[in-house]
Amino acid sequence: MRIQAAVVEAPGGPFTLRDDLVIDSPRSDEVLVRIAAAGICHTDLSSRQKWPRQLCPMVFGHEGAGVVAAVGDGVTGVRPGDNVCLSYRSCTTCGQCSAGHPAYCETGIFALNAGGTRPDGTSPLSRAADGSTVYGSFFGQSSFATYALAHTSNVVKVPADLPPAVAAPLGCAVQTGAGTVLNVLRPPRGSSMAVFGAGSVGLTSVMTAVAEGCRVIAVDPLAARRDKALKFGAVAAVDPTAVADVGAAVRDHAGGGARFAIDTTGQSGVISQAIAALGQRGTLALVGVGGRAEFDIMTVLTKGIRIRGVIEGDADPAAFLPRLVDLYREGVLPLDEIITEFPFHEIEDAARAAAAGEVVKPVLRFP
Ligand SMILES: NC(=O)c1ccc[n+]([C@@H]2O[C@H](COP(=O)([O-])OP(=O)(O)OC[C@H]3O[C@@H](n4cnc5c(N)ncnc54)[C@H](O)[C@@H]3O)[C@@H](O)[C@H]2O)c1
Ligand SMILES: [Zn+2]
Ligand SMILES: [Zn+2]
Repeated sequence: MRIQAAVVEAPGGPFTLRDDLVIDSPRSDEVLVRIAAAGICHTDLSSRQKWPRQLCPMVFGHEGAGVVAAVGDGVTGVRPGDNVCLSYRSCTTCGQCSAGHPAYCETGIFALNAGGTRPDGTSPLSRAADGSTVYGSFFGQSSFATYALAHTSNVVKVPADLPPAVAAPLGCAVQTGAGTVLNVLRPPRGSSMAVFGAGSVGLTSVMTAVAEGCRVIAVDPLAARRDKALKFGAVAAVDPTAVADVGAAVRDHAGGGARFAIDTTGQSGVISQAIAALGQRGTLALVGVGGRAEFDIMTVLTKGIRIRGVIEGDADPAAFLPRLVDLYREGVLPLDEIITEFPFHEIEDAARAAAAGEVVKPVLRFP
């Protein structure tokens, strides 16, 4: 079937809309989804910058939502016409998947979600003109396209009356921000929690931690994002460019030292600030994607700091996404306040606005 998709032709290149792509019919364990909305996650933008040249042209997008158009003959969970949200892919059978931790699937999150192909090396996308490969299957979807071919493991049914623009970011940013609080840190009521970076992931952590009764301190250089954190119930918002010692500023607001911290920046210097912001035996969740970090070992030792890496909120999408829908409906997650909709053809403008910090969560809408 012919589809339209936003294609990245070379590493760091723009998203270019192309009408000349063909998508496969679903295999037995696959679901073809007509995309209604797709969130842009920071990971789409960072991946396009450093994507391997040999895996171009490539279609990104991993926060898709839409309606099932067709299913493979082995699919039982959804059927054509169902509204669905797309999340990350997992093998479903290894020890971690069986234990309810598919984010740590032993097949490897990158192997299944960021290899540019299905696990068997084939791509569901090609050029109509010559049949040449267009890489895809990003997080088992590549949803910057009018249709996406997903795997049964990353398709979750959602209510038909849930707005597609709200359903879309549940699959990554919201799951990550909320899951880090609810599944990983599990803060007792009254705990203090510092959230470094108030983007879509960080602000979702703020909303969730506030609802869990935490005393939340947000840190972000952007005033508009600090304002949002305060609006969502944070007790303080620190501008890291305006204080000499960020760790000390957070400790002051936390009554001596935060019990929990979340880093959503992936920056080495910020991770050191988060360690400094924690009190004795505090826990730091690393969520932001990054390279290497350097920190003072003796601070971590003497404070007894626990550092925990978190992928996708350590959430099983099939169980967790319906819970997020409930939290949205209860008003715990005021997602409408961080979402800005753009028509699909304005994807480059949406990406630029996100990178510039002008919008928090751009969501593309499809005709
Ligand atoms: N671990 C996972 O499973 C997972 C899932 C989704 C996203 N991510 C990653 O999480 C990160 C956050 O994603 P996002 O979509 O919220 O991105 P974002 O760009 O919207 O948010 C990052 C925020 O960090 C702020 N920031 C920059 N410098 C800072 C500093 N010195 N101190 C404090 N804050 C600072 C920015 O102003 C911005 O608001 C990205 O690295 C993304 O790739 C990880
Ligand atoms: Zn993401
Ligand atoms: Zn697995």
